[in-house]
Amino acid sequence: MAPSLDDLADTGRTLAPEECAELARAAAARIDLAVLPREGSGSFELLWRNEHSEAWLNTWWEARDTGFHDHGGSCVGVFVIDGRAANEALTVGGPRRVRSYGPGESFAFRADGIHRMDHDAGAVTVHVYSPPIASIGHYELVDDELRRTAGPADEGSPPSPRLHEALGPEVRA
Ligand SMILES: [Fe+2]
Repeated sequence: MAPSLDDLADTGRTLAPEECAELARAAAARIDLAVLPREGSGSFELLWRNEHSEAWLNTWWEARDTGFHDHGGSCVGVFVIDGRAANEALTVGGPRRVRSYGPGESFAFRADGIHRMDHDAGAVTVHVYSPPIASIGHYELVDDELRRTAGPADEGSPPSPRLHEALGPEVRA
């Protein structure tokens, strides 16, 4: 029998980024896309939160850009169940690093990085964070200075339009 979400979540230790991505993939296999409610702009459902990790099932019925943010020292693994989602690490002085992922693809992002995700309308994703998120930092330019604003762990991060504009053209791989 396939392991339950509780079994999957019982890792006994914090996880590396690639392990989060693998766990997101395993958790996604337990999700039935057909029964997800499709009203509103989307939703965030907590699949689990324990000492070592937390996992969310996110639906994005409307497109949404998270803006640049950090996870306060938690790494993340993301698995795309449906639709498309792009991930971009914040880079300075080089080409932008934007990569788009489709159904069945996953990626991992390090605990000390700053990134944004841009979800197409219709995307369904599973995110596993380890350790559980204590806080989120949002990044935006104010008077050409990069500023970090701390936010609560369980709230979506807002877009960062000025920083996005300043980084130049976005080319997706
Ligand atoms: Fe993130």
